[in-house]
Amino acid sequence: MAKNDPVYDIILVGATGYTGMLTAEHITQFLPTNIRWAIEGRSKGKLDRLATRLGRLSPDRTQPVAETVGISEDIALAQLVGKSKVCISVVSYWQVGEKVVEACIESGTDYVDATGDIYRLKGWIDKYQEQAMADGVTFIHACAAFTAPHDILTLLLVRELRSTASVQTRKVIISVVDLPKKPSGGTVESIIHGATYSRDTVVELQNPWILSPVAGTTTGSTEEDDQTDIFGMRSESGLGLLTDTSYSATQDRHIVHRTWGLLSDSDWGYGSRFRYREYSHAGSRISGIVKLLDVLLATFMLLFALFRTLAKRFVFPASFPFVDVVTESHDVLSDASGGLEMLFSDQRRHSLSIPVATAEGKPATVASLIDHLCRNTMKDTRKELFVLDDHL
Ligand SMILES: NC(=O)c1ccc[n+]([C@@H]2O[C@H](COP(=O)([O-])OP(=O)(O)OC[C@H]3O[C@@H](n4cnc5c(N)ncnc54)[C@H](OP(=O)(O)O)[C@@H]3O)[C@@H](O)[C@H]2O)c1
Repeated sequence: MAKNDPVYDIILVGATGYTGMLTAEHITQFLPTNIRWAIEGRSKGKLDRLATRLGRLSPDRTQPVAETVGISEDIALAQLVGKSKVCISVVSYWQVGEKVVEACIESGTDYVDATGDIYRLKGWIDKYQEQAMADGVTFIHACAAFTAPHDILTLLLVRELRSTASVQTRKVIISVVDLPKKPSGGTVESIIHGATYSRDTVVELQNPWILSPVAGTTTGSTEEDDQTDIFGMRSESGLGLLTDTSYSATQDRHIVHRTWGLLSDSDWGYGSRFRYREYSHAGSRISGIVKLLDVLLATFMLLFALFRTLAKRFVFPASFPFVDVVTESHDVLSDASGGLEMLFSDQRRHSLSIPVATAEGKPATVASLIDHLCRNTMKDTRKELFVLDDHL
């Protein structure tokens, strides 16, 4: 929505998190150097360190203004996002995501997020879409690694087939070959939170058109096409062996079908019979079965509150620590949170120095920091709870 004289072009809400930090770095490195922007977070210390880091990354561009407004302070948040043309929200959605949505509706600020929580998204769409459309406020959801590439790829495939071969696409099948081995701390928290949804909600989510403004129908032949064997596998010509274990399949299917519904009356429409399916690539039947067992085990474990609590505290990383380079040694402030502090003498923040070069004379990296933390800072003997196979 066009605003009179906004102070900022972009405000990044939740800039101090893992996704926030990556987004801020991306803006710094790739967006025009004269955009006016702000980073928002609840911790002034974290924001200041992020601002310093961004300043070092690209000293000659317009630097962001650091804004600390409590997300729970509704009026103040609406006033803050109201100062910007666009708000990018990368907060922990299941905790405070709706506050940011509300503030954008309230202030008429265009909005982008990275949420993959379909049920939450459905609630927001049901509640706010009508008003957003009436006020001309744009909302772009799920603009993130696990979803946007699949959605955009599908749109481009359908257009390409139509323009080069004059055919309507009946189905797009995506085989996910590789995904990041470790999802971000916030993503893990979202998955754990998603496991607490009721049975009715889980059943409701099986409808692939739950987010679409147009209802789709399932035909017998489509159902048959999607049949897998008892190990959740099927073969597809050109794609090879597929297994029904893609982590992002459900959310991507909902988002792609929403795009299908939103475009249905336009020149970009995919056609009424269009379907989207997503699988993981299986190199062999054995690896397909191993993937299936992995998913079944994780799903089963997440049913238990005790495991969810333990997983939050011990197994998964929260967010990456901030690393600030100073002179001959790297002066580092390391934040251990999300339960990690238990392994570090219950202390959340550590100030330490590591040499700028490794013993081999190579520049110090995050791996050097992790090694230093394990050797010198961590008193707990259970190193495997912090690092396993060289990963956090
Ligand atoms: N779909 C995808 O592909 C994809 C990919 C990555 C992430 N995500 C989603 O993005 C979200 C963020 O993930 P992340 O890993 O970046 O999480 P994160 O590192 O934990 O960061 C969460 C951010 O939200 C803020 N926050 C959390 N609770 C708050 C509260 N009560 N009041 C104010 N601020 C609060 C945090 O502030 P502090 O720094 O002060 O704690 C931080 O800035 C998650 O919901 C995740 O599922 C989606």
